[in-house]
Amino acid sequence: MLNKDVIVACDFPSAEETFKFLDCFKDVNRKPFVKIGMELYYAEGAAMVREIRRRGHSIFLDLKLHDIPNTVKRAMSVLSSLDVDMCNVHAAGGSEMMKAALEGLRSNAAEGRQPKLIAVTQLTSTSEEMLHNELLIAPSMPETIISYAKNAAGSGLDGVVCSPLEAGIVHDACGQGFLTVTPGVRFADGEVGDQKRVMTPTQARLGGSDYIVVGRPITKAESPLAAYERCIGEFLNEELR
Ligand code: C5P
Repeated sequence: MLNKDVIVACDFPSAEETFKFLDCFKDVNRKPFVKIGMELYYAEGAAMVREIRRRGHSIFLDLKLHDIPNTVKRAMSVLSSLDVDMCNVHAAGGSEMMKAALEGLRSNAAEGRQPKLIAVTQLTSTSEEMLHNELLIAPSMPETIISYAKNAAGSGLDGVVCSPLEAGIVHDACGQGFLTVTPGVRFADGEVGDQKRVMTPTQARLGGSDYIVVGRPITKAESPLAAYERCIGEFLNEELR
């Protein structure tokens, strides 16, 4: 796992579609860091995680656990045997839950292979208006993100999921080594869809994101490989081939 990377969100309904997509990258000398979310995990389960791992990809298992501490601890203990690189919870579950998640994750992981644990602050599909009027959270979005990030850091977590707009303030509040994993990334000439707090890969790099999570701009592109190369170029300033 690199310190900075583009994570490709494999939001597909089946193993077949996922492998068809991953085959687009078979001729490049870099295995994309892959995110497995709820759709794929609920459809194909742990076998899918093991197979993607066997193929040599780094994996972010994005299941966003959010329940009472004991339940999250036990679920994390099960997930810890899957040998993924990163997994997550919702910071809204509170500090006790995040500490329990970390304990569960540590209980079963192989020596030296403990996944990074990060917490979702606010979904990138949540707007400031929704935060106040629907979720009834009075402080501003940046204040809310900083407070949730501090709770995550205080609970011993490795970082947070936030929008690339917030990566800088999270680093200022929690340190440069505290990871910012940022979805809500769109090309300057691309569609935004349901995401509200977005930036381009270049802006995300300049803003200090450690990892960008990119789904539809790559998975729905006419050429997923070209879109991935564009992300790598903009975010990492690297040529793929
Ligand atoms: O297709 P798109 O690039 O919008 O995909 C973003 C991915 O990141 C999705 O898989 C979504 O579940 C995930 N995500 C997000 N916002 C968060 C946490 C995760 O969009 N705060």
